[in-house]
Amino acid sequence: MPYHQSRRSQPPSISQTTLLLLSLFSPTSSQKTNSKRGLASLGSTHTSDNSLLGSPSSPLFWYYNWSPYPLNAPSQTAITALEFVPLIHGIYGAEDSQTSTAINSLPSTSKHLLSFNEPDGTTDSGGSSIEPEDAARAYIEHIVPYRTSNRKWLISHPSVTGSPRGLEWLRQFNESCWEIDEENGCPTDFIAAHWYGAYDGLTGWLSQLDEYYKNGTASEQDLKIWITELALPQQSEQETVNMMNVTLPYLDELDYVERYAWFGDFRRKDADEWAGDNVAMFDDDGGLTALGALYLGGEANGFEEGQEGKGEGAASSVKVNTGMMASVFAGAVVMVNWL
Ligand SMILES: *[C@@H]1O[C@H](CO)[C@@H](O)[C@H](O)[C@H]1NC(C)=O
Ligand SMILES: *[C@@H]1O[C@H](CO)[C@@H](O)[C@H](O)[C@H]1NC(C)=O
Ligand SMILES: *[C@@H]1O[C@H](CO)[C@@H](O)[C@H](O)[C@H]1NC(C)=O
Repeated sequence: MPYHQSRRSQPPSISQTTLLLLSLFSPTSSQKTNSKRGLASLGSTHTSDNSLLGSPSSPLFWYYNWSPYPLNAPSQTAITALEFVPLIHGIYGAEDSQTSTAINSLPSTSKHLLSFNEPDGTTDSGGSSIEPEDAARAYIEHIVPYRTSNRKWLISHPSVTGSPRGLEWLRQFNESCWEIDEENGCPTDFIAAHWYGAYDGLTGWLSQLDEYYKNGTASEQDLKIWITELALPQQSEQETVNMMNVTLPYLDELDYVERYAWFGDFRRKDADEWAGDNVAMFDDDGGLTALGALYLGGEANGFEEGQEGKGEGAASSVKVNTGMMASVFAGAVVMVNWL
């Protein structure tokens, strides 16, 4: 039986109840205290959308944008108030001295560092396409030192695609790690996972990953998983809402899941083409979709479908799609540090 079914039927623990009471009795305490929820930002410049996502009553408390450079446009101020999690996308970025300069100048609220994005995936779908041996070498040379630096960054292993190919890549990566460094392998502080698909598949993928790491890691290290990309692609609006509606409480209660982020922050018309319009949290005019309202915690937090945030809905008319992400990642000169 899947791990989640037995867990979900359990009553909330005392500490969860206590936290709930605390949040009920102190209206000024934010919704963020007991939250795992964050934002995978493709850099939306809609001030009004960002003001909702980053508002005090929103449960989102962290964000990342697949790069070591935080957002910085005036339209993004509400998001930049959240905890930023830098990501080193691939080997070029790892080798670039500007990357470490950027990461080390982040505010002290940033403590976690994500490493290579979908190394088992191709660059045209936003992956970094790295052979496990090459990734192991670069990880040991460039990522592990952040862990032992003054700031003692908490680092993640590369985040693979949610697939058998991903798990196989991790096994080969681990083998190479121990070949290169017989004493330490590739140490990690947490695991980053991706999932595009239905709820049942998600529960299966997470328990497989958790088992893989529990099998192979010293028992005193209790590794937690972050799902940094999560969506149900290409399904109807209702099915997408239903999937999110069972997924959020499941992830909130699952002990070995520490954080998660829905993909992504776009409006329906700007949605990633591969994921489809129904993963969007905003409609074309900047009103919350049912899905967006649900992700922000719904009525309990004061969010409802159709609600628009304050500030300009300044539209970027650029259609975001995986092809465009790929061309960004593949090396427009200004963005070369992302790689
Ligand atoms: C974990 O170990 C068990 C027992 O050796 C094995 O059957 C299982 O396949 C392993 N799981 C993973 C995901 O590697
Ligand atoms: C990685 O490989 C080492 C050395 O073979 C092994 O002891 C360990 O269990 C593996 N770790 C994982 C997570 O599979
Ligand atoms: C989510 O599920 C709950 C419990 O099953 C239900 O009451 C609620 O209406 C659902 N919310 C949405 C937005 O579908």
